[in-house]
Parts: sequence; C-alpha cells; structure tokens
Amino acid sequence: MTKITKRFGGVTALQGVDLTAYAGEVLAIVGDNGAGKSTLIKVLTGVYQPTEGQIFLDGKPIEFSSHADAIEMGIDAVYQTLALADHLDPAANMFLGNELTKSVFGVQMLDNKKMRTETERVLMERLGVTLKSPDAPTESLSGGQRQAVAIARAVYSEGLRVLVMDEPTAALGPQETARTLNLIKALREQGLAVILISHSLDDVFEVSDRVHVQRRGQCVGVVNTHASSTQEVLGMIIGAEEAA
Ligand SMILES: Nc1ncnc2c1ncn2[C@@H]1O[C@H](COP(=O)(O)OP(=O)(O)O)[C@@H](O)[C@H]1O
Ligand SMILES: [Mg+2]
Repeated sequence: MTKITKRFGGVTALQGVDLTAYAGEVLAIVGDNGAGKSTLIKVLTGVYQPTEGQIFLDGKPIEFSSHADAIEMGIDAVYQTLALADHLDPAANMFLGNELTKSVFGVQMLDNKKMRTETERVLMERLGVTLKSPDAPTESLSGGQRQAVAIARAVYSEGLRVLVMDEPTAALGPQETARTLNLIKALREQGLAVILISHSLDDVFEVSDRVHVQRRGQCVGVVNTHASSTQEVLGMIIGAEEAA
C-alpha cells in the first residue's frame, strides 16, 4: 500500500500511509485507539476505498470496489467479532453462502457430509485443529475453536495470499491465546502474508517478524521485531514528545 490517505468528511483517518506485507511473514500493526489501524486494513480488504494512494499485489496495481473483490484477489480478514452464525455448526459456517450441493435424482441438495469432512480436513491440514464436537452449534465451542473455524473459512479459498487478523486474542484467555498464536505461526509457515492488529505487545513480540506503528493516522515507523523491544515500540506508539 503506498501513500494511502482516507478521509471521512472532515476527519483524516489515514494520511499518506505506506505498508508492505510479504509472503511467509507476520506483520504486526500497533497503535493507540484512533491511530487508523482498522481503517488501514479496511482499505486493504476492500471495505473502504482510499481517498488517495494505491495498492499493489506482486508489484501490479490493484483496485477493489468491494470486500468481495479483495477476497477474489486473495486478500481476506478475520475480525474480532468472527462473524460466525452461532446457531449453526462449524461446517455450515465454513460454507455459509457457498454451500456444497449434490444431485440426488436430479434434485440439488445440500451435501452436509462433504461439508463436514471438508471442514475437518481444512482444520486439521491447515491449522492442526480437531473439533471437540463437530456437529454442535458454533456458540458451544471454546473461543479458540471458534477462531479456528473463522480462520479455516478464510483459508479454504485456495487463492488466499494475505490474511488480516484484527485483535484475534482480545477476548481469549492465556491458553487460547497461545493456541491462536500457534495458528498464526502455522499460516506463516504455509506462506501466507499474515497481518496482525494487536494491542498486546506480548503477542506482537511472540509472533511477528516486523511491526508497523501507526500514530494519529500516520505510520511513524516499521521495526524488525527481533531487533526491537517493547520499550522502543511503546515509545513510538505514544510519540517522542509525549514520552519526553
Ligand atoms: N466511518 C468513519 N467515519 C468517520 N470517522 C471515522 C470512521 N472510521 C474511523 N474514523 C476515525 O478515523 C480515525 C481512525 O480510526 P480507526 O481506524 O478505527 O483507528 P484504530 O483502529 O487504530 O483504533 C479515528 O479518529 C476515527 O474516529
Ligand atoms: Mg480498530
């Protein structure tokens, strides 16, 4: 993303932001409330159109007019809310709006068995996750398992290149947080570009390769995680003048 500016009427949410994400890497985005993190990833995922600036994929300029366009080009997001249909089982959630069907005596019917086995396969192969109760409503699953279902739905698309995760551990306890960070590492191993928005610098330092720091709508720096520290990143989040 180069020189991305996004204005909402008189409010400038983003001002000339550059962001680069690479395959096989976790890029963390950090910053205070209102720094522009969510707006930045909504521009990346086609939810918002930038006021100015451009997005490139493999060096080629791309444009989307909707979130569906971004998904088509291999860019998707898992939001904190997960957007799961709680009363439906995991397989129904995986295929929501893209249900698999089979023809029975010339009549198209839902292929529940195939959706179930595909769901179990993707969860196991891509995320190393086994569901404790695959036919129970999604609301009865643990936070970590629900997260896995939401991620599985995104990675089921073979063309997925970039996965954005907005505060994936915010509602989770320590054990489930550790599991979710492991899922993120697995996706990186599989060559995805993972973009992680997080308030938890512990999570950021555990799992990311680089950290992009947003402040008041601008990118105030990008650091290599291994060459940086929570102090340095905190200082960038708060800003030198406030810290001094
Ligand atoms: N839809 C919107 N309309 C008007 N202002 C918005 C809208 N979305 C975000 N903003 C403003 O843009 C700025 C950045 O917000 P946001 O991207 O949500 O920050 P963050 O996710 O880092 O907390 C804030 O000042 C916010 O009030
Ligand atoms: Mg936000």
